[in-house]
Amino acid sequence: MVQSLKLNSGYSIPAIGLGTWQSKPGEVAAAIKTAVAAGYRHIDCAHVYQNQKEVGEALKEILDEGKVKREELFITSKVWNTFHSEAKAHENIDIILSDLQLSYVDLMLIHWPQGYAEGAELFPAGENGKMRYSDVDYLETWKAFEAAQKAGKCRSIGLSNFTHSQIQRVWDAAEVKPACLQVELHPYFTQVKLREFCKEKGIVVVGYSPLGNPGSAFFRKDGDPNVLTNEVVAGIAKAHGKTPAQIILRWFVDSGLSAIPKSVTPQRISENLAVFDFQLTAEEISKIDGINKNWRIVDLSQRDGDHPHCPFLEEF
Ligand SMILES: NC(=O)c1ccc[n+]([C@@H]2O[C@H](COP(=O)([O-])OP(=O)(O)OC[C@H]3O[C@@H](n4cnc5c(N)ncnc54)[C@H](OP(=O)(O)O)[C@@H]3O)[C@@H](O)[C@H]2O)c1
Repeated sequence: MVQSLKLNSGYSIPAIGLGTWQSKPGEVAAAIKTAVAAGYRHIDCAHVYQNQKEVGEALKEILDEGKVKREELFITSKVWNTFHSEAKAHENIDIILSDLQLSYVDLMLIHWPQGYAEGAELFPAGENGKMRYSDVDYLETWKAFEAAQKAGKCRSIGLSNFTHSQIQRVWDAAEVKPACLQVELHPYFTQVKLREFCKEKGIVVVGYSPLGNPGSAFFRKDGDPNVLTNEVVAGIAKAHGKTPAQIILRWFVDSGLSAIPKSVTPQRISENLAVFDFQLTAEEISKIDGINKNWRIVDLSQRDGDHPHCPFLEEF
């Protein structure tokens, strides 16, 4: 049975979900249908992935079929950087619900703390490979999130890619405290300090790029490491008769974390959920903790590094 984590909103988030970034239109609907048939109930989406209309069509088909009810699914989406002012955040939430063909999402996240210039472009290009920024404070975005939650459009609200001091700022100003933080997290980027900080506040941590995104040409550079071929992980996989991906995903579950591996490959979609019939020992968990390299794959420090809210300016 898929384990879940309790959110401060009273709802529960399944520990393993399906990622949809880089799942192309034409692929993403099939991946979601395969995943739900395999037992996934948690799907991670975002406005900026530009595939939410197709996600919505797949969800409609699944719900119309009647085997799975809406309340059994946990759908996350994220408001994009060009929608940070209060009015634009409301607009983006409404677009997301319309694209997904849903009356509410289970979790809405502010995708990044740094805002981009508002307008039609998702990536408003500036000079020297930088974006054109907006100076809207994410506290304003959070106000819209609180109102959207009150209006029943999001059951839980949270943050993505925020540092501990940015989370603290939202926490201090918030009427509704963030339920969740989604950040890059895998055995080569274990985020121990940020995890401890969130644990103290009762914020559930969801790890993105949980497998270190081995197939992506988008952020990957020559010489970047591949956690799926790590020797420690391979040894533990052999001992359990499981694959390296399953060992990594079980490490999330046994560490009290959620993970959202992306795949459009049916066999991998099933493989990534088949992690609830075994457990890692404390020694195995600490061996995996020990391979941390503080290596991140999603690094926007070149593109967004001089934005005052760029999260990569702080240690954690
Ligand atoms: N909040 C944010 O800013 C943010 C940023 C990045 C990602 N995310 C979310 O997190 C999700 C996951 O992260 P990610 O897509 O960056 O990386 P990931 O899940 O770590 O890796 C995905 C890649 O691994 C391959 N793969 C999946 N399962 C595998 C397995 N069992 N064995 C070998 N290879 C496997 C996939 O290939 P195939 O698809 O070809 O099978 C794909 O190329 C995203 O899809 C997105 O929903 C959020």
